[in-house]
Amino acid sequence: MNRFGNDVNVNLWGSSHGPYVGCIIEGLGGGLEVDSELMREDMSLRMPKGRIGTQRREKDEVLFASGITEGVTNGDPISIMIANQDVRSRDYEQFLRRPRPGHADMTAVLRNPCHDIRGGGMYSGRLTAPLVAAGSLCRMILRDDCVSVSGFSRAIGGVVDHSDRDPEEVVASRGFDTRACTSSLDSAMEEAIIKAGSDGDSVGGVVECRIDGLPAGVGEPWFDTFDGELAKAMFSIPAMRAFEIGDGIWSSGSRGSENNDPFTIKGREIGTESNHHGGVLGGRSSGMPLVFRCFFKPTPSISKMQRTVDLTNLEETSIEIEGRHDPCIVPRAVAVVEAMACIVTLDLMKRGGFIEH
Ligand SMILES: Cc1cc2nc3c(=O)[nH]c(=O)nc-3n(C[C@H](O)[C@H](O)[C@H](O)COP(=O)(O)O)c2cc1C
Repeated sequence: MNRFGNDVNVNLWGSSHGPYVGCIIEGLGGGLEVDSELMREDMSLRMPKGRIGTQRREKDEVLFASGITEGVTNGDPISIMIANQDVRSRDYEQFLRRPRPGHADMTAVLRNPCHDIRGGGMYSGRLTAPLVAAGSLCRMILRDDCVSVSGFSRAIGGVVDHSDRDPEEVVASRGFDTRACTSSLDSAMEEAIIKAGSDGDSVGGVVECRIDGLPAGVGEPWFDTFDGELAKAMFSIPAMRAFEIGDGIWSSGSRGSENNDPFTIKGREIGTESNHHGGVLGGRSSGMPLVFRCFFKPTPSISKMQRTVDLTNLEETSIEIEGRHDPCIVPRAVAVVEAMACIVTLDLMKRGGFIEH
């Protein structure tokens, strides 16, 4: 249920207001020196910032309960634990009876009347913290093979970045709170988020991610294709609503002559002149940058009055949500998208024998 991956796999556990959230990651092998600086940076990019994120502020210190000896992986399953310290559970009691529109409360309670509603329980974005830690470990191994995974905010609240972005510009988004690629886009996206928040509302947007340095051939047809595995990983991220690779839905409206990327020789490698296909052909990496987009809905918990139902008497009623929430999920989701992409990439590279076990 909460397990993902094959040769590299993750078991996720915990709930938003329990003592810890965590995961067990298997398959990384021994001998990897943990780069604590990179881990801290990846974790800090998931944390809420200023007025564009929730006021719930957690330290997100990563504890390793197994699998690491004196800072080096020992080949055992790695247990990651992150404490929940800044919790206000009272804000959530009413959602057991009156579920929040757009959130998981209704389906969670109908399926499991004992559901831990505090902070959204196991459906909370809080559970993405251990995923980012696990993804960071995978990133360290990929880095040794010159494979990099980097994301940015392509759109937030109607502010759209229309430019093609090269890897350096994408990495520069790490310096901006919204994860935009430039300071002017960062300001415009921040303004859109703050405006929605002050209206008691929320906004959505698009995360774009690229994987550079992949050899050709990574991915397992039919059912464990690179694009298929990525899509499954991305759909596990709460509030992710659509996945697109390369030109995605736009390719359905173009002609074959426009959409096909002519093959060419780059150095001693086969490449393509353009990259409409987004780096995956036949479920396997083509050797071109793998480019995909994740579309996120606006945060469900907003403070505007909303209509809902009372689950105890099945009467229509209304709800006003108090508490601390992200007025936009996208800036924090970029780190989660990168982490899940790192896990998928390492898993498929190990399965295909591109990286030794
Ligand atoms: C990093 C992150 C932070 C989130 N923060 C919030 C939040 O503050 N309030 C909220 O209502 N939803 C938040 N969500 C989204 C909900 O967890 C999600 O919408 C809910 O579990 C229902 O799942 P679904 O939207 O995938 O159907 C967040 C998601 C992520 C990935």
